[in-house]
Amino acid sequence: IKTIGVLTSGGDAPGMNAAIRAVVRTALASGLNVKGIRRGFSGLLEEDIVEMDAKSVSDIIQRGGTVLYTARSKEFMTSEGQDKGAAICRKHGIDGVVVIGGDGSFQGAEKLAARGINTIGLPGTIDLDIACTDYTIGFDTAVNTAMEAIDKVRDTSTSHERCSIIEVMGRNAGYIALWCGIANGAEDILIPERYDHNEQRIIDSIVQRKKLGKKHHIIVNAEGIGDSYGMAKRIEAATGIETRATIIGHIQRGGSPTCMDRMYASAMGSIAVDLLCKGASNRVVGYRDGKFVDYDIEEALAMKKDVDQYLYDMAKKLSQ
Ligand code: F6P
Repeated sequence: IKTIGVLTSGGDAPGMNAAIRAVVRTALASGLNVKGIRRGFSGLLEEDIVEMDAKSVSDIIQRGGTVLYTARSKEFMTSEGQDKGAAICRKHGIDGVVVIGGDGSFQGAEKLAARGINTIGLPGTIDLDIACTDYTIGFDTAVNTAMEAIDKVRDTSTSHERCSIIEVMGRNAGYIALWCGIANGAEDILIPERYDHNEQRIIDSIVQRKKLGKKHHIIVNAEGIGDSYGMAKRIEAATGIETRATIIGHIQRGGSPTCMDRMYASAMGSIAVDLLCKGASNRVVGYRDGKFVDYDIEEALAMKKDVDQYLYDMAKKLSQ
């Protein structure tokens, strides 16, 4: 292997730049050439490919977003698009690609691997919804950002003795909501994996806690459940307690990555290049049970994951 490419695909996540930097610098230290493929698979099909040297990744480890930009590509989902992508890699002398993104991006990596381009996937998403790994690049920064925002909402919520519903991202997964719910001491945590749509139970608990003298009621609601504004209206109508909804939104996707995201993303970037140097392909790097590991992409995509039941039950006890 002489030349590798690196791309980011799907939603951006803080720490992606640290991973890109590690890929570039590890590759250069291993005597490889590196090319940056901009705008994910979509940029690959447009041959938006740039040379990367050690300096091109200077001053980015602390920056959120991705300097390579990111996109979602419909064309690359077709077999013609995948053939074209592999041919473009060959044309540019790229014989290995590090793909940083979520499950959808790994499917793209798998298609390139099937066409003779060695690929390694790195889990990059704030949602933590990749089954083969306990850690994804960006999750730590996103939960810290959301946690700080919820603390702020709590201040004003307490002053006004209100109920507040705060909606966090996560697509169909409730990891951000569960972690913030615990870290922020929320009274209720609503996650799609467990929600029973029993709003009356929430209403009863708000009324009950108010009677016990609670000055606020914080509900962390996952995006996968949504309807926070509707929920706020219904709760206010049923309880007579002023209720506000806040959707934190894309703030959770940006910002300077935490130490953990910089560290783990750097390690994963390095490991990806080491794997390519060993001739590995069609693998995803993960972090499980305290160790960095790698799996066949198909095997990784077939894995299932659920929120930790102990943490979920614990959150209920701690919120009493
Ligand atoms: O996957 C990351 C994520 O931020 C999800 O939490 C959210 O559902 C989605 O991306 C939002 O996507 P977009 O930025 O395209 O609106």
